[in-house]
Amino acid sequence: MKIGVDYYPEQWDRDMWEKDAETMARTGVKLIRVAEFAWSKLEPRDGEFDFTWLDDVIRIFSRYAIGTVLCTPTNCPPLWLYEAHPEIVRVGIDGKRIQTGIRAHRCINNPTLRFYAKRITEQMIRHYSGNPAVAAWQIDNELEAYSCTCDVCKAQFRDWLKDKYNDLDGVNKAFGTSVWSGEYSSFEQIMPPNAYPKAWQNPALCLDWYRFCNDSVAGYLKDLMMTIRLEDTKIPVTTNTWFCENTPDFYKLFDLMDFVSYDNYPPIRIPVDPNEYYSHAFHLDLMRGVKEKHFWVMEQLSGPTGCWMPMSPAPRPGQIKGYALQAFAHGADTVLHFRWRTATTGAEMHWHGILDHSNVPNRRFVEFSELCKSVSQLSILDNTEIISDIAILYSPETDEAFKIQPQVEGFHYLEQLKAFHAAFTHYGANIDVVSPDTDISGYKLVIAPSLYVNRKSVTENLYRYVINGGTLVLTTRSGVKDEHNNCIMDTLPTVFKELIGAEITEYDPIGNDMQVIRDFAGNEFRCSQWCDLLQPTTAKAYAEYNEGYYRCIPAVTMNRYCNGVAYYVGTVCKSDFYESFASNLMMQTGVPKLKGLPHGIEVTTRTNGRDEYICFFNNTDKPKTIPLPKPMYSMISSMGKDKLELQPFEMDIVRK
Ligand code: GLA
Ligand code: ZN
Repeated sequence: MKIGVDYYPEQWDRDMWEKDAETMARTGVKLIRVAEFAWSKLEPRDGEFDFTWLDDVIRIFSRYAIGTVLCTPTNCPPLWLYEAHPEIVRVGIDGKRIQTGIRAHRCINNPTLRFYAKRITEQMIRHYSGNPAVAAWQIDNELEAYSCTCDVCKAQFRDWLKDKYNDLDGVNKAFGTSVWSGEYSSFEQIMPPNAYPKAWQNPALCLDWYRFCNDSVAGYLKDLMMTIRLEDTKIPVTTNTWFCENTPDFYKLFDLMDFVSYDNYPPIRIPVDPNEYYSHAFHLDLMRGVKEKHFWVMEQLSGPTGCWMPMSPAPRPGQIKGYALQAFAHGADTVLHFRWRTATTGAEMHWHGILDHSNVPNRRFVEFSELCKSVSQLSILDNTEIISDIAILYSPETDEAFKIQPQVEGFHYLEQLKAFHAAFTHYGANIDVVSPDTDISGYKLVIAPSLYVNRKSVTENLYRYVINGGTLVLTTRSGVKDEHNNCIMDTLPTVFKELIGAEITEYDPIGNDMQVIRDFAGNEFRCSQWCDLLQPTTAKAYAEYNEGYYRCIPAVTMNRYCNGVAYYVGTVCKSDFYESFASNLMMQTGVPKLKGLPHGIEVTTRTNGRDEYICFFNNTDKPKTIPLPKPMYSMISSMGKDKLELQPFEMDIVRK
């Protein structure tokens, strides 16, 4: 486990580099990430490369035993390139070219841009290949599923559609263009979804556009990855990501990458609803699930955030250290803090790093130093893994389809995944968040919320899982769409009817109105957003509605199917239901529970096959006491304990 920082030598006077390296080394920093925005310094004029300053940086820091993560500077083409080739500037969904002088405003499909991006990458990798101080490469920065509507992208999108559907007839059928006289009579008529609200546009077109945008990013990454690999077959390569406006399909994004990197900015404000405490761990589990292995945090919260929005509060005492350790607990190998020192110039000057503008050590720096110390004592966890009995399935296509057509007030796909995640977290379970395409046969329990866009291979994956004895939970809005994002003409949940042993005779999108369900044991829970009225064929009711005209109609069902069990939750509840449901599911599937955990305590267990280490993280702003089932040895305070007293955002790790 390592701690690093994001560093921008090009923004500081040269004479600060050595001093920074020295302070970092003293603090325990092991890595810097550099150069993702430094193209104009590395190629000041077309074809004229200058790596001398970067050589100096790498050399200076390596003298202090600090390795470098080198980035392709391709996120920010220099202005001379835009001037010579204005056609490489991205065109927005309003059809206008984006203003230059900011960042990431290039069209990644443009052949000229690709030529220049590959050339600078090639020059850099030739220069730095084999340099022992270079620990890894990052390609570009936060590649999103950008929508560029330039002529190149339009032409490529049409070719992409030709490849997929063969001919225009295929496109017309897939998009159902007979609606609103939208039939295409030539490929040239096909336009990307534009600035109108998505709800006005063809949902099948919108989803294919999203897929095309992801394939474009993947193609761009492949080009740069191949450029690196031609010169260096060994160096680990990644790209960094986050949840953003155009959230990419993480599975495609990282397909060719050696490891996943995540930019991790957990909430500084403590949510009033205790359920939300957990939502951040969900993101970390999702990142671990992308390649189903450990990942890096390439950017980690370090100070008040701002710039793109009004500034946030400063991280509370404990959050700098605690959130980094939380990332380790969920499978991060390496955490780099964004950034060493806050910028004094440029648009981002109010997004704070560890050090403030003053460069004077502050409260956050002291806590960061403690973090570095703690991490250096945790090498015992280096070869441990997180093994989970429970999986939650995340589908980028479904996520996007719900963005294209929001279903009802208050309904958010990710919130449903988080609700289950929070419930299992409350019982101390490890949870994997993985793709619906993955092999799920090893899990005791699989939760697949709202599988809205359906592909045959995924449906088969789920059936196979249950047939072979698995316990599966499906929820409302499953089976609604085919793979084109068109509605399936069948009784809901269509492809899953047989599996859940029930049919939906009617649904009621109640939005923020409230309903009540009552489970088999007589417990009542409030629900809202959506109510499926279920009619069991072979299933049994787990819970029924308790109010209004569908009183006594099943809302949640349970069906034995071959060797397994399939549940269906036809509504969206508050956290108390998910906790009660999770508890029953864990009991029935034999997933062990940690009892008596106070709310806001997150637990992950890591094992090396022989020893188990349990990480307890207090993700609240109140001190918490946690009873341990038996006395355990604390790796943090090096002593035996029979209970843990955790300060706000404090982590303790005990050997089981
Ligand atoms: C992202 C980017 C960084 C920086 C931070 C903070 O994560 O990758 O370059 O802009 O946000 O705004
Ligand atoms: Zn374009």
